[in-house]
Amino acid sequence: MDVMSHNTILQGDCLDLLNRLPNESVDLVVVDPPRKLKTKIQAGTTGATSYWEWCQEWLAEIVRVTKPTGNILIYGQPHRLLQYAAMLREKTVFRHWIVWDTLSAPLGKSLPPSHSGFLHVAKDKTLNTFFELRAPHKRCRSCKVLSKDYGGKKALLHPFGPLVTDVWTDIPRLRNHFQSTELSEKLPQLLWERVILMTTNEGDLVLDPFAGSGGTLLAAKRLGRSFLGLEQDADVLAQATERLAGAQVDAKIRGAWVSQHGSQLITIRDVDWPKLAAHFFIPDPIADLETAPLMPKTKLSRKRPKPLSSSEDSLFFQLDGKAVTQPRKRKNTPLK
Ligand SMILES: C[S@@+](CC[C@H](N)C(=O)[O-])C[C@H]1O[C@@H](n2cnc3c(N)ncnc32)[C@H](O)[C@@H]1O
Repeated sequence: MDVMSHNTILQGDCLDLLNRLPNESVDLVVVDPPRKLKTKIQAGTTGATSYWEWCQEWLAEIVRVTKPTGNILIYGQPHRLLQYAAMLREKTVFRHWIVWDTLSAPLGKSLPPSHSGFLHVAKDKTLNTFFELRAPHKRCRSCKVLSKDYGGKKALLHPFGPLVTDVWTDIPRLRNHFQSTELSEKLPQLLWERVILMTTNEGDLVLDPFAGSGGTLLAAKRLGRSFLGLEQDADVLAQATERLAGAQVDAKIRGAWVSQHGSQLITIRDVDWPKLAAHFFIPDPIADLETAPLMPKTKLSRKRPKPLSSSEDSLFFQLDGKAVTQPRKRKNTPLK
């Protein structure tokens, strides 16, 4: 198959396949590398004798195929990201070190690894595509009041939420097999979606050279990006292909690509807020956000079953900003 055919996963060794990709043809390379080489087969046909030597080879290839406007994000634990950073120092520019707090509870000993993250590098610091992101305000789980005390600055609150920093604490890890796929994918979809929203535009090409169960590609598809996965293991590839076939290009609200969990928006791009604002009831004055979470207009709000009129026959609904009354069904209405 042509290596430049998009929206597919190619089976084979990543180095063999990467070698066939043209220079500067990819907008985002997103990588979750294998932690070790289980067999010689995993290193493909290269002469690499150690894991790190092998990493050096595919790192050189992903830099070669990335566009000057492109980005590379490598996922891993800090001790691994340090090694990748050292290997990439000469050929790329550092952009970010993103910490993902996996919110684990320490058991047994102090300082267990409870964060991992992304090393974000680019070929050119001024050219690389980058979008400011916003995440919803954090709130108390039970009382819904804002977790942070904004003091006298509440009137200046952004209605959706603050800009995302380089520490991500709002995306929980997948805790059990009920939340994972049958491949027990370890990383939540929301992580990949955030990375893709941050560094690409609609239609851009996302490459994952270790596609596994296809989480990155699934995110790319849902967000209207082109994608290309490389994967050595035929069984894993078959399952990823099936997942992709079942996914829709559907992560869009009012013309803006978004990352969402159920009906809750998790990440939006700052530039998209003017379009998305119309999707919400925005409290007025804005300081009321302290106690009133942003409500999507599409959510039928039945919180106030208080009648609008004195009539017992009306219920209060709010749909797209319009108050409507509906006749209440009486339990004792005679059957006709
Ligand atoms: C850490 S997993 C990636 C998990 C992935 N992010 C997911 O969502 O499932 C690494 C993947 O790389 C694949 N792999 C290992 N060596 C490879 C090679 N030389 N070429 C292509 N794929 C390889 C493994 O089969 C495995 O599926």
